[in-house]
Amino acid sequence: MTTTRASRREFLKMAAVTGAAAGAGRRVTGAEANAESWRRVGKQVSPNDRIQIALIGAGGQGQYDTQSALEIPGVELIASADVYDGRLVHVKERFGADVDTTRDYTEILARDDVDAIIIGTPDHWHKQIAIEAMDAGKDVYVEKPMIQKVEEGAELVAAQTRTGRILQVGSQRVSSVLYEHAKQIYESGRLGELNMIEAWWDRNSAVGAWQYTIPPDASPETVDWARFLGAAPSRSFDAKRMFRWRNYQDYGTGVAGDLFVHLFSGLHYIVSAIGPTRVFATGGLRYWKDGRDVPDVMLGLYDYPATDSHPEFTLALRVNFADGAAGGSGFRFVGSDAVMSVGGSVGLTRRARQQSPGYSINTFPNAMQNEFLEDYKRQYPNAERELTPQADEVFRAPNGYSDQVDHFGNFFASVRSREPVIEDAAFGFRAAGPAVLSNVSYFEKKTVHWDPESMRVTG
Ligand SMILES: NC(=O)c1ccc[n+]([C@@H]2O[C@H](COP(=O)([O-])OP(=O)(O)OC[C@H]3O[C@@H](n4cnc5c(N)ncnc54)[C@H](O)[C@@H]3O)[C@@H](O)[C@H]2O)c1
Repeated sequence: MTTTRASRREFLKMAAVTGAAAGAGRRVTGAEANAESWRRVGKQVSPNDRIQIALIGAGGQGQYDTQSALEIPGVELIASADVYDGRLVHVKERFGADVDTTRDYTEILARDDVDAIIIGTPDHWHKQIAIEAMDAGKDVYVEKPMIQKVEEGAELVAAQTRTGRILQVGSQRVSSVLYEHAKQIYESGRLGELNMIEAWWDRNSAVGAWQYTIPPDASPETVDWARFLGAAPSRSFDAKRMFRWRNYQDYGTGVAGDLFVHLFSGLHYIVSAIGPTRVFATGGLRYWKDGRDVPDVMLGLYDYPATDSHPEFTLALRVNFADGAAGGSGFRFVGSDAVMSVGGSVGLTRRARQQSPGYSINTFPNAMQNEFLEDYKRQYPNAERELTPQADEVFRAPNGYSDQVDHFGNFFASVRSREPVIEDAAFGFRAAGPAVLSNVSYFEKKTVHWDPESMRVTG
């Protein structure tokens, strides 16, 4: 833990350094920034140690994860499994013809020369493959949400403890220099008393709403449909379910598991929270009526009791896939002295707490108002100035910065050093638990009670 936190501080310094270099006219690329942060992270271990990885689930995110992982010195992709042949063809095109490919992920887990795996499958496979992989002696980078159903979490946390493997969940913002900066602002106390957090993730496009392209050759010949289904309910081949799996409860986790989970991970990191005790979600399927059985608008409300790290606060989350403007995503951390926004940058807007009492006199007799005002100005000469907000403070990451590469930098640093990662199985469960319980609340029309300490549903 200490090492990883120290590494983050180095990243932060790096962001400041590269920002200064850019300001001085020297162009600093994202790759340079990431390579430099890697040199700092990896200084206690040799970056020459080779780590051989395999990718299981080579779709959009799996391939992107792999590309990011390969930016870390010493990391090499040797194998990949996917149940659609076209993706395996592209893995060879993109990462090299010598990468071994198979439809059967268990062949990958049986290999002695694979040190770590990336799991980029649909959500309903995460737990099973992660546990099998750790039991086979592999370290695991598993995409978010760590679990599909709340019942799966305890088993996965126990498996990580039992096997002693490194497991990191793929909510990459936890390794972002922006979130580290936000965490420092929060911990400095400049927000005053935190009272609520709101966060949203709105979209306004077909692909944003998960209408992904179905490959023209999709068929029972090119897809291992039984392996896609796994433990999900049996049914005949359906290309829509296969390539747009997020739209179905059998394989995905709806907007809560897919997007709320990133927001939970980010805010838990920033304010060192472990989770809410009460979960309530509502919403509906309002626009994308394409056969999906999950909502496209969802609002969630969560109660966070006071801990040593934060006061009691209320969290409000929103996803809207039919947001008639451009959509967008962000956070507002609302405190009594300032509001911190976190999105593409971190901003701080504040107005010092009012020292003067203010007044509400306009229904009183005129003479009384005039006398009151004269007296008030004498007593509080700075009253007007103190109501003027102070200028915004904005922090930006260097151009081309990638939190995804830093997340892999942290993962592989732990693979080498065996120091724990921050976003381990317990962190992953504490983010995914309330996210998937939002689905329980929505579908069962009830409030769900959760104990974030023991990670159990309590009612
Ligand atoms: N961290 C992020 O920002 C981020 C972004 C996007 C997606 N994700 C996560 O990544 C995961 C994958 O999402 P995606 O958008 O890449 O989906 P995708 O459909 O593009 O990719 C999933 C791949 O898994 C394959 N697959 C299905 N069952 C398999 C099995 N049993 N064995 C091997 N391969 C199997 C599919 O054929 C497909 O190629 C999801 O859990 C998603 O939540 C994370």
